Amino acid sequence: MKTVFITGGAGFIGSALIRLLIAKSDWRIINIDKLTYAGNLSSLADARRDPRHIFHHNDICDRQAMDALLTEYQPDGIIHLAAESHVDRSIHGPGDFIQTNVVGTYTLLEATRAYWSSLGESARSAFRFHHVSTDEVFGSLGPTGRFDEASAYDPRSPYSASKAASDHLVRAWQHTYGLPTLITNCSNNYGPYQFPEKLIPLMIGNAVAGKPLPIYGKGDNVRDWLYVDDHARALQLVFEQGRPGETYCIGGRNEMTNLQVIDTLCDLLDQQQPRGAGRHHAELKTYVADRPGHDQRYAIDAGKIHRELGWIPLETFTSGIEKTVTWYLDNTEWTAQVQSGAYRQWIDQNYTQR
Ligand code: NAD
Ligand code: DAU
Repeated sequence: MKTVFITGGAGFIGSALIRLLIAKSDWRIINIDKLTYAGNLSSLADARRDPRHIFHHNDICDRQAMDALLTEYQPDGIIHLAAESHVDRSIHGPGDFIQTNVVGTYTLLEATRAYWSSLGESARSAFRFHHVSTDEVFGSLGPTGRFDEASAYDPRSPYSASKAASDHLVRAWQHTYGLPTLITNCSNNYGPYQFPEKLIPLMIGNAVAGKPLPIYGKGDNVRDWLYVDDHARALQLVFEQGRPGETYCIGGRNEMTNLQVIDTLCDLLDQQQPRGAGRHHAELKTYVADRPGHDQRYAIDAGKIHRELGWIPLETFTSGIEKTVTWYLDNTEWTAQVQSGAYRQWIDQNYTQR
């Protein structure tokens, strides 16, 4: 059985990827996660207890722990998702972003290089280090055009600068040491198990609670939304079939202003969970101060991954957002545990701890 390390597997996208790989592959998965505020083992659902899933509670910045895990499990590849991921947090406190996204990626690359160098020739050439990154490294678009693999780097927030730095490190390790790397740059994800600090789950939670829906600036910033399971399918394809040294852009071709997203959510909630007394969820919309340095527009040209690997998103925004709203309404317990902090005690004692 082949073994893959997944860093950040208790997060939003990492957990979707693990659920997919358990269902649709034979990989043995070593999930390495520090369980920051964003890590939540309950997001793994049934995959948590599958014998092909082994959890290790570790920080990717811990070189000794990374060396020990690589020696113990002898992986065939790594999909690296562990990161600090929220732009607003990076504005208020960039330190953790530099530490995990830059120093952590560097530490993981160095531990991987030492392990990979010790492998025989065929294992070395079959090995893959897949770095999961973001479209935010390319900066902000005007009204037209889309980012693709040739777009220049122009990160503008501490988060995107730290991700850009990690992309550059990964490319340098490929170019200098020959490590077989892959990079994917994806647009905004949404779907089940997303931490409710991000736009869509925050708006659903606030609307259901009758709280204000905070819209930064004019609400005219544009994001290109992708359902998280479509991203997970793209990650599996690139990891298994992508060409080493290459970058693949991933996006949903679902450009929406934040106001369009919020209005869609309010309409769906009016249908699925009416407020009563003739009131509408849209009445909760509240304009607040803009995010400093707020990028205006992101959009991705995903032509390369479509042409080379045959990937297309299966969900439209209409189908994905309906599923998402239904999931949050059906899983209020998950959100309540996250809001109360109770999920942080859920490190299962059956898991191997280091
Ligand atoms: P998330 O914040 O939900 O999850 C991040 C996970 O990483 C958490 O489980 C956390 O505990 C873990 N982690 C953080 N620091 C760690 C450390 N030092 N060592 C080990 N584990 C650590 O993030 P997400 O939204 O699932 O994003 C996953 C990856 O995908 C990130 O690299 C992010 O930059 C990238 N990405 C996210 C999006 C998006 O829309 N969410 C889009 C494109 C790319
Ligand atoms: O583009 C990919 C990126 O998408 C990922 O790399 C990041 O990890 C992920 O967090 C996401 O970044 P954004 O900053 O685009 O996502 P966020 O959900 O924080 O905000 C989406 C938009 O909504 C953005 O224009 C800011 C706005 N917003 C956000 C919040 C939380 C609001 O207007 N009000 C809010 O309360």
